Amino acid sequence: MKKIVISTGGGDAPGLNAVIYAVVMASNSRGWEVYGSRQGYLGLLDKDALVRLRPEDVAEITPTGGTILGSTNKGNPFAMPVENLAGEINIRDVSDRIMRNFLRMNFSCHIAVGGDGSLEIAHRFAVEKGMPVIGVPKTIDNDLLATQLTFGFDTAVSTATEALDKLHSTAKSHDRVMVVEVMGRDSGWIALNSGISGGADVILIPEIPFDLDKVCEKINDNELLDKHYDIVVVAEGARAIDHETIYKGDGEIGRSERVLGGIGEWVAKEINKRTGKDTRSLVLGHLQRGGSPTTFDRLLALRFGATAVRLAESENFDQMVALAGDQMCSVPLADAIKSRKKVPLDSDKVLTAREIGICFGG
Ligand code: F6P
Repeated sequence: MKKIVISTGGGDAPGLNAVIYAVVMASNSRGWEVYGSRQGYLGLLDKDALVRLRPEDVAEITPTGGTILGSTNKGNPFAMPVENLAGEINIRDVSDRIMRNFLRMNFSCHIAVGGDGSLEIAHRFAVEKGMPVIGVPKTIDNDLLATQLTFGFDTAVSTATEALDKLHSTAKSHDRVMVVEVMGRDSGWIALNSGISGGADVILIPEIPFDLDKVCEKINDNELLDKHYDIVVVAEGARAIDHETIYKGDGEIGRSERVLGGIGEWVAKEINKRTGKDTRSLVLGHLQRGGSPTTFDRLLALRFGATAVRLAESENFDQMVALAGDQMCSVPLADAIKSRKKVPLDSDKVLTAREIGICFGG
């Protein structure tokens, strides 16, 4: 009988609960036990944050957003912010304690569901501490190179597209330029997919540093064509050719990446300055991470979960489950975390966008 522990780390994504469901059910059908570690690795530090997951505990979670286990992006066990009695926060390496608890609990495998940061931590546990680990890729950004798609992305794109659809009528009523900032970190997938599907005039992505003159030219051309409103989609990581990426701040202590944000507002102001057109900006933000996963994301997440259990059965560790074509496969975690997936500039999506008249500003 095997004992599995599952954790969800990093930013949440619609479909996490479907992975948990599949892991619990596929393990149960093999006669194995599953435990959930709350808030990333917390359950392996503190027994109160470890929960037994039985089929009845997960019965209705597949269509729900978020994660029943909770998540964190400041819980790297190799550099964890720990508060002392005086209220000071120190960064400590608690990985050995976690490994001791893992062995003490007699776990046979840790299924780590996360983005690149969480998968990197899982790989370190495998290599440096000998933990039997299997990774499940998750991120709405779809920026993991080793898998064709991650769950959460389709839901985020659908949410963004629906928002764009709604903005057309109000932009048109007021002859305005609506600038919509979407998530995606350093990859432009959400902006590109939602922008094409949602009828954007301009899409700005990190992979193509943009020239504001070209963006304004597009807006002026639309005027000449008797189209007096425009929809501009900006990925949070996009930047103008002569400017740096805009960040909102450093984020919480223990967080490994700075918080992006602000480019949408900046672009809106510049467009107003240069064209004189009325502009408004909005940030879709965490709306893109919330809600029920689409059918596509549910199915992908369920398949990832069941595949992870199959890997645990064959004791094929330090691997990440992945989608290749329509097939489930696995790739070494070491390869999965090497680099991020960017939008290829010669991809048919970029070509399609250009051919249907969408401007990238570059
Ligand atoms: O990686 C997922 C993501 O939603 C990014 O698109 C975004 O930049 C970041 O997480 C936001 O993080 P937080 O939820 O910590 O603000």
